[in-house]
Amino acid sequence: MVGHIQENESFLGQPTAREVRKASDGTWILSRYDDVLQALGHPNAIVDGSIRQLMERASSAWPQRYSAWSNICQLVLLQSGEPHRQLRKATARVLQVTSIHVDENPLRETLHTCREVEDVDVISALVEPAIDRAMAPLFGFTTNEMTRIRESGVGVYKNLTAGLAQIKPSIFEADNTVLVDAFSDVVGRPADAWTEQDYAIVFLCTVVLQPLSDLAANTLAFIAPHPELQEAARASRGGTTAFWSEAERYFISARYIHRQSFGDGMSVGANHIPGGARFICDIAAANRDPSRWPNPDDFDPARAPLSNLAFGAGPHRCLGVALSRQFLPQFLWGVLRVANVSPGKSPVKRRCTMAVEEPIEIPLAFKMLEVAR
Ligand code: HEM
Repeated sequence: MVGHIQENESFLGQPTAREVRKASDGTWILSRYDDVLQALGHPNAIVDGSIRQLMERASSAWPQRYSAWSNICQLVLLQSGEPHRQLRKATARVLQVTSIHVDENPLRETLHTCREVEDVDVISALVEPAIDRAMAPLFGFTTNEMTRIRESGVGVYKNLTAGLAQIKPSIFEADNTVLVDAFSDVVGRPADAWTEQDYAIVFLCTVVLQPLSDLAANTLAFIAPHPELQEAARASRGGTTAFWSEAERYFISARYIHRQSFGDGMSVGANHIPGGARFICDIAAANRDPSRWPNPDDFDPARAPLSNLAFGAGPHRCLGVALSRQFLPQFLWGVLRVANVSPGKSPVKRRCTMAVEEPIEIPLAFKMLEVAR
């Protein structure tokens, strides 16, 4: 079977779907597909308030006039209830586009510099430039502006995923300030005059593009040692729906979704999570639930595509699903129509945090196809 890969070639460890359980600090951990789906969609689930509390504590170490925190905390993902509904609407309006275009000329240029290139970091050389070029028009930015804002948001993304408790307030504040200043500079409005649409755009340009970049890079890294997978993806001009559905299920890098229950809590399967309790949904494990996907630790693009939890579920479900599903095959086709890919010599570098297993550098080798020269 084409591209039927065993787990030992994977990099995410072995996230395993288990019974609902409770950690020693009282946090509930959910990892089965049905449990996660039910909990994230439950009307008594809200964003875990302790994340906001941590941010508040960190920023209170600074005088108010220096604090960029109030801007950053408008991020749609950190809101609940009515503020969330409003920001989500503003964000959805920004994303009301019918199509994006991944301009493949820059990909060709990058790869064409030599006939054979070794150890090209695909994230910085291919994926990020492709994302910036494809996304800039959505927000009315030039590609350079888009790159500047996205890069300014890296620190904020790291703080959000790495566990704020471990971050010094000064670093937290400095990272927030870099993003707020860069965005204000580009849009020509000081932070206290940002509109709701500005908050939506700053969020979209920074934190949410990271998982898209990770998925594109992880998929390319994974197919690098598999010419047969590359041939199949080439034949379908960038991968079939089934291929990408399997890639979403298998290679997601955003692993945990933090929530809190309120009111009279919620029943999940045979368990009751009381109001006020915190819970974590392990969506990577839920995507490998054997009751939904037989042999879930195998990457098998021949599976019939089933909906998965890579994009979350419920009121916070990802608003970028359609965009991501347009971008990914166009990007892969842009690469594979020009070159064969194989593993690089230098090791892949990853950053593992509480929430993500993010690729930092993925060095791969490229050999131009005859027809592409
Ligand atoms: C493969 C790529 C992506 C993955 C795996 C992904 C995953 C996710 C997940 C798991 C959530 C839910 C988080 C939660 O419930 O706390 C989320 C939320 C979100 N995503 Fe994505 N995302 C991707 C790409 C994108 C893109 C390209 C955009 C837009 C340009 C986007 C926009 C959003 C927004 C706006 C939210 C927040 C929704 C809300 O809080 O109401 N995402 N994403």
